Amino acid sequence: MKLLAPSILSADGARLGAEIAAVEKAGADWIHVDVMDGRFVPNITLGPAMIAALRKTTGLPFDVHLMVEDPDRYIESFAAAGADYITVHVEAAGHLHRTLELIRKSGKKAGVSLNPATPLVSVEEIIADIDLLLIMSVNPGFGGQQFIAGSLSKIRRAAGMIAGLAQKPLLEVDGGVQLQNIASVAEAGADVLVAGAAVFGASDYAATIKALKAAANGT
Ligand code: DX5
Ligand code: ZN
Repeated sequence: MKLLAPSILSADGARLGAEIAAVEKAGADWIHVDVMDGRFVPNITLGPAMIAALRKTTGLPFDVHLMVEDPDRYIESFAAAGADYITVHVEAAGHLHRTLELIRKSGKKAGVSLNPATPLVSVEEIIADIDLLLIMSVNPGFGGQQFIAGSLSKIRRAAGMIAGLAQKPLLEVDGGVQLQNIASVAEAGADVLVAGAAVFGASDYAATIKALKAAANGT
């Protein structure tokens, strides 16, 4: 079963708690939370205090995607705030192995993300020790962008790398996932599909999530 993780970046910011409850009721599997620092990416979103407040609104796993420079500074705060998965960018962590140890020590699942231009080989040395590999299929920073077509081949190659491992991380894809392309993204090997605009831009969350999951699972 493929998992669907709505990204609250595209939700109504004035009603975030209600939006999370609505997608939970509509069949979401995880809640994808985008944290942006205005340095690693041009945009700024939310921090640990907001995540701690939102944590009370749902029992679903919080998939926290840190688009921040030097993420070591914040691992403890996001762990305490109630993140389940903490994903950092290869491009933002000077000592990635140490960062992953910090996440593990905080009792959370450790994820690593790659920008579209970053080659898969950059995770070769740590892929056996992570819980999640996140392939960005847009340049991070904003919701509602167009899926970069070349990402499909990268997802396939990532799935190939993972297939040879004893301990397999989940493969997640983030950016531009829509009803029209979710089947090919899932078929390429993604286990977790992030969808922001495709979910929160729709008027009927339940029907949209059902359609996205059916297309992803080929049912
Ligand atoms: C982009 C974020 C994504 C974003 C995806 O930097 O990491 O999670 O919310 O949004 P859509 O699905 O609208 O491309
Ligand atoms: Zn994201």
